[in-house]
Amino acid sequence: MELEQAMRDRRSIRGFTDRPVSREMMEEILAVANLAPSSMNTQPWHFHVLTGAVLEAVRRGNTERMLAGVPPSREIPAHGKYEGVHRDRQVEIAKQLFAAMGIAREDAERRQDWVMRGFRQFDAPVSVVVTYDKALDDHGPVAIFDAGAAVYGLVLAAWERGLGAVINGQGIMQSPVVRESARIPEDQVILTCVALGWPDEGFAANGVKSLRRELSENTSFQGFDEDGMGWRLSEAAE
Ligand SMILES: Cc1cc2nc3c(=O)[nH]c(=O)nc-3n(C[C@H](O)[C@H](O)[C@H](O)COP(=O)(O)O)c2cc1C
Repeated sequence: MELEQAMRDRRSIRGFTDRPVSREMMEEILAVANLAPSSMNTQPWHFHVLTGAVLEAVRRGNTERMLAGVPPSREIPAHGKYEGVHRDRQVEIAKQLFAAMGIAREDAERRQDWVMRGFRQFDAPVSVVVTYDKALDDHGPVAIFDAGAAVYGLVLAAWERGLGAVINGQGIMQSPVVRESARIPEDQVILTCVALGWPDEGFAANGVKSLRRELSENTSFQGFDEDGMGWRLSEAAE
């Protein structure tokens, strides 16, 4: 039940206090993330835990290049502009966040400020840059699936300890900066990063609970009997 409660309560945290995060706690959290299942137990993920001057260099480089108009440079294929229901959901969460922060639609300055915060990974004290083994790029997208499972474990283990996190692509838009500052080895692909810290209770966006579809909209059940039971052998149901 504790696991389920953490999954139900968790939300992305985008405002942090000045309280530092210990290396010891990060080791505990990443040990949990490391338990994720993976294709054939390949465990393709790596964690680069950044703070202090290294994280500052990433923030600065990312922000300066974005402001200078350098096109985003990610190491995984870009998702481009979402359309249809996916765009609708993107707009929905943006509206929720802006409403919580009191940022009006026409307030270009504060909207821009929000984007800049994203480029700085919301000024979190720690960022975990998640990479995976480049050799697996020749084996389809499954390594990204595996690393995603590890990232969810990371976020939940952090939440259980009272730490807030936001998985974010914005903070590594300029991946060459991350690669250089964090000294990412050439045989790894930068996938995403997770900004972490102690949640600032006074930061309104931290209270936003994003919405989910009803299960009936994205789930189908096949082959269950009239009592709703799923049997190991179909004859046993007769
Ligand atoms: C792959 C990925 C990339 C994300 N990138 C960003 C980002 O760049 N900026 C941001 O504010 N949130 C980012 N998020 C957080 C999502 O917006 C958030 O998970 C989603 O709106 C659902 O909200 P919740 O995490 O509070 O449940 C990202 C999440 C994922 C999984």
